[in-house]
Amino acid sequence: MTTSPTVLRLASRLTDVGFSDIVKLRNRIMELRAQGETVYQFEGGEPFMPTPEPIKEAMTRALAENKTRYAPSSGIPELREAIAEKLRTRNRIPAEAKDVIVVNGGMQALFGAFQSVVNPGDEVLLFSPYWTPIKDLVAHCQGRSVLVPTDEAREVGLAQTLARYATPRTKAIYYNTPQNPNGVVLTTDEAKAVAAFVQERDLIVIADEAYEDLVYDGEHFSIASLDGMVERTITCFTFSKSYAMTGWRLGYAVASEPWMTGLKKATLYSSNGVSTPTQWAGVAALNLDQSLLDKARDEYRVRRDLLLSGLNEIGLTCASPAGAFYAFPDVRLIHPYSREAADIFLNRAQVATVPGIVFGVDGESHLRFSFSTSIETIEAGLDSLRRNL
Ligand SMILES: Cc1ncc(COP(=O)(O)O)c(C=O)c1O
Repeated sequence: MTTSPTVLRLASRLTDVGFSDIVKLRNRIMELRAQGETVYQFEGGEPFMPTPEPIKEAMTRALAENKTRYAPSSGIPELREAIAEKLRTRNRIPAEAKDVIVVNGGMQALFGAFQSVVNPGDEVLLFSPYWTPIKDLVAHCQGRSVLVPTDEAREVGLAQTLARYATPRTKAIYYNTPQNPNGVVLTTDEAKAVAAFVQERDLIVIADEAYEDLVYDGEHFSIASLDGMVERTITCFTFSKSYAMTGWRLGYAVASEPWMTGLKKATLYSSNGVSTPTQWAGVAALNLDQSLLDKARDEYRVRRDLLLSGLNEIGLTCASPAGAFYAFPDVRLIHPYSREAADIFLNRAQVATVPGIVFGVDGESHLRFSFSTSIETIEAGLDSLRRNL
């Protein structure tokens, strides 16, 4: 029997779905370390602190109590209730437990959201630079990402700029605040402008609020809390950044119908839900005192200020990130192309960063530095840049 070449070919919906560039960078860092070099790591996307003890204890307790069986695929009622309460009080999103689905991290929430909304040929507006996987999630739906430069939009006005990039094929807007990679926090007025635009054009918003608890200047505002938005917004959240739980894979989405049905189908037929003990740990996380989040935010702020003043002093101009844990300096002084600039930083100063081009054309000439690391690493990395660039 012969096998035709078309048989041994990946399904076409995966053709334009990429793999993260960051993997290559990680390999290079490992290589340098294997050669005995010290690498000052600013390329990551993880909280610098460990998961709080009460969360770990709740997981251990759940195991001891044999809470290890299948849970409902959308989440245990106790966690869905606790999330709905948090959404009502902290995000001002009018949600009940039935509007909440528990998923494996923000990524699975976003995957289900795009799968629920985007048809082949639909266009999705992304403020750019954007978090890299979003383009791949849109590609997986055989949709098209249309990049809307964030700087231009904030200067000229969000609605006016969105209008320039929207077409009759536009179906949705990805609304990420605080933003990865540049730490931009969109204001309440900006949310209102986007809400008015999507209502006028009858579009859907996929909101990503992964960094909601990491805002240093201004306040976090959930677009779904605005009048007329709850029915046309799927908001995706994660425990990863707020509670230092990246490896636990716990997140949730809030949406009304028909989106909730879409999210449920995407979850049921991929992971069939989140591990049961992990969900009990999630309940414990939501019961933690707010002061814990405030304390973490203060620690991030110290790191942000330290990194920012050092970068600006070296001449790498950088707007102060109002949220998340990334600085995104302009590095044209070193090299106009961010991949080359990142190589120079790594090879000359052993400072690992992510080239801005990874986050789309509007990220070119920039590097992403995470300040979610130790004070010592920030000081030593800056010192190495001062001496070696
Ligand atoms: C903007 C943004 N959204 C969502 C996520 C998803 O996080 P996770 O899948 O760990 O919950 C991340 C993680 O880096 C992110 O940066």
